[in-house]
Parts: sequence; C-alpha cells; structure tokens
Amino acid sequence: MPDTIRTVIIHGQSHEGSTCRIARMIAEKVDGETTEFFLPRDFDRFCAGCALCFTKGEEKCPHHAALRPITEAIDAADIIILASPVYVFHATGAMKNLLDHYGWRWMAHRPDARMFRKQGVCVATAAGAGVKSTLKDMEHSLFYWGVGRIEKLGMGVAATDWDGISAKKKAKLEKKTSAIAARLKFCAGRVTPALKTKAMFGIMRMVQKHGWNPPDVEHWRNSGWLGKARPWK
Ligand SMILES: Cc1cc2nc3c(=O)[nH]c(=O)nc-3n(C[C@H](O)[C@H](O)[C@H](O)COP(=O)(O)O)c2cc1C
Repeated sequence: MPDTIRTVIIHGQSHEGSTCRIARMIAEKVDGETTEFFLPRDFDRFCAGCALCFTKGEEKCPHHAALRPITEAIDAADIIILASPVYVFHATGAMKNLLDHYGWRWMAHRPDARMFRKQGVCVATAAGAGVKSTLKDMEHSLFYWGVGRIEKLGMGVAATDWDGISAKKKAKLEKKTSAIAARLKFCAGRVTPALKTKAMFGIMRMVQKHGWNPPDVEHWRNSGWLGKARPWK
C-alpha cells in the first residue's frame, strides 16, 4: 500500500448535492489525499471535434492547457472517482464532455501505462431510474483507459438533494461506501488488471501491429507493447 493513497474526484456537476456527498464519503473513508474537480466549473470547453489529439498528438488539442490540471491529477492518483447525477438516463453533459477530451487515451489509441495499476469508482444517483446507463457512461472510459480495477455505486435515491434522502437509504449508503473504501484500501498498490482488461489490451495490440495512425503505433512501439512488455508488469 502506498504511504498516502491519492484520490481524484471528478464531479459531473458544479453543485454539492447527493452525488458529491457519496463520492466524498468514499474518499474520506479511504482516508488519503483528495483532489476534486467540479464540471463545468473547472473545465468548460467543449470538444471541438478537430481530432488533432488522435492524429497529431494530445498536446495539439486546443484545450490542452485548460485540461492539464485535471490530466495531471488523474495521472498522479491511485484512485479515480467519476461521479455524476443521472440526467435524462445518462451522465451529465459536463462529464461526457470531459471524457470526450480523453478519447486519445483509450486502449484503441494511446493508453497510459500507469492506468493499469489504478483503481476507479463510478458513482451515480438518480431520483428513480437511469443509474445503470449512467454508470456505464463513466465505466466505459475507465475501462478503455485501462484502469485495472473498477467499483460502481449507483442508487435511486428518490430525492433531488441530500436532505431529501430517507434515513434508511442513507444508512445503506454508509454501508456501501464503507465496503467500497475497504476494498480500495486493500487493493491500493497491488492492482493487477482484470482479465477482461488484459484481453482487450491483447486485441488492441493486434490492431496496433497493423496500425494506421502513426502517433498510436509509435506509442505502442516505444512502450515495448508490440514486443513482450506489458503496462502492468
Ligand atoms: C436535468 C435533470 C435530469 C434528470 N434526469 C433524471 C432521470 O433521467 N432519471 C432520474 O431518475 N432522475 C433524474 N434527475 C434527478 C437527479 O438525477 C437526482 O435527483 C439526483 O439524485 C440528483 O443528484 P445531485 O443531488 O447530486 O444533484 C434529473 C435531474 C435533472 C436536474
């Protein structure tokens, strides 16, 4: 286990409601160092669709500098928490927009080797329905970034804010967040990616052997992944 477990929370909204509370409960129970970003407050640029991140390099993104603090915090973290309320059955537009900016980091392109040793948590709350698809919105990115272990906590809270949540549901949330935090602490510093992640990496490796996009092929070759090296070893 690292001396201090570093957690980054990326909130898909700029207010401190139920979803924020639950994400913080997990981070507090992990009891390390936490950095938080609220969207769109801390990053409000929309992906321009120029595809320069894919074809020329991520530093060519017109929003590269604005995105850097979040990228650096993600890279430094042991645990990445993505938290979003359910908006029309999905993650908020602000969360989706941030994740769009990291398409180049997907395993199909240029995954960062450090991801395979990190843990991720997806948190979503709905008034009633839509938690599953919202968790999936965020899990897709964590999985395709290569994050080695992923936890999920979603709940229909039957409320529009924390005060409106029943005592019974709050007690359930206490229990669930404690269990998740205990697993996160136990696995910190000893993550090996899930079999599914390793299998996807293997498929992407085959694709890169005959890759079409020079920056991607170069990344895989320079990392040694087209040979025997693997990011989790
Ligand atoms: C624009 C908008 C869309 C919403 N869409 C849904 C929805 O599709 N399903 C649902 O059950 N609740 C929906 N809700 C309710 C919130 O997801 C729910 O109250 C959530 O717990 C709020 O979390 P927060 O306190 O972190 O803001 C929506 C709320 C807003 C503001």
